[in-house]
Amino acid sequence: MARPTHDADPTGFGAVDDHDADYFVRFLDARTTIPGEIRVKRLITSELRLREGLSVLDVGSGTGADTCHLATVVGPDGSVVGLDRSARMVEESRRRAGALGVPAEFVDGDAASLPFPDATFDRCRAERVLAVIDDPVAAVAEMARVTRPGGLVVVSEIDSGTIFLDGPDSHVADSLVHALASGLPNPRIGRRLNRLLAEAGLADVHCVPQVVLNPVAFLRVVFAGQLEELVATGEVNRAGADAFWAEQERGEHEGWLCTGVTCFTAAGRKLA
Ligand SMILES: C[S@@+](CC[C@H](N)C(=O)[O-])C[C@H]1O[C@@H](n2cnc3c(N)ncnc32)[C@H](O)[C@@H]1O
Repeated sequence: MARPTHDADPTGFGAVDDHDADYFVRFLDARTTIPGEIRVKRLITSELRLREGLSVLDVGSGTGADTCHLATVVGPDGSVVGLDRSARMVEESRRRAGALGVPAEFVDGDAASLPFPDATFDRCRAERVLAVIDDPVAAVAEMARVTRPGGLVVVSEIDSGTIFLDGPDSHVADSLVHALASGLPNPRIGRRLNRLLAEAGLADVHCVPQVVLNPVAFLRVVFAGQLEELVATGEVNRAGADAFWAEQERGEHEGWLCTGVTCFTAAGRKLA
């Protein structure tokens, strides 16, 4: 796997604790107010078909925001566990759940080797995790393993091959997309989700693509570090980088900015 060469690099999500963890927390928080991202999260929750009393696992739970929301849906008779490989994320999610008074449990662990017996959970979700891990096939197999017969598995990922950036110079936009995609272990995972769930033996597999438009504030969180790196290596010149941001800002100000990505959400049922 290519390693990030600077701290503000989202391709480092596979090893948060090796970098500036605050950047990754900031990244996840910035997503929570984007309308397209909120629609994706609603779709995931709807595909989980939650009700009171269910047990749910959130794989790669990040700051725990989604895990805490799940806890409020399944209520006191249900249970939720968030699992993350980053000790820093687990610490942050425990802190936030405590502050909210939400009874969510958070554990350290690896998606490719879940520390739970077979058939432990009624539902299992993973959002924006499979793109950043080395073995998404093992992770989906593990999610299927720990889900009870009749239970549901839902995964959701963007696909870097669907990113669209507008700008005065296509070289800058193309270089940014290439920098992101080449740093991720599985940049085109979105289109593979249906197949991964089917090959893990799940039934009723289906996938819903949604386009997410991104505001400039979030583009800066994702790409500002990457663009500075491209300037430092000489692949993009300073004027090109400045013109790129000026055009994004102008597009947002004038209301025509059209920059985003397709997010795929796939679901399947464990056979009884
Ligand atoms: C892009 S974040 C998504 C967080 C959350 N699901 C969300 O959508 O807000 C990816 C998360 O997966 C975690 N992660 C990366 N590799 C992992 C692995 N092998 N096992 C479990 N979690 C992992 C990261 O630490 C990070 O918190």
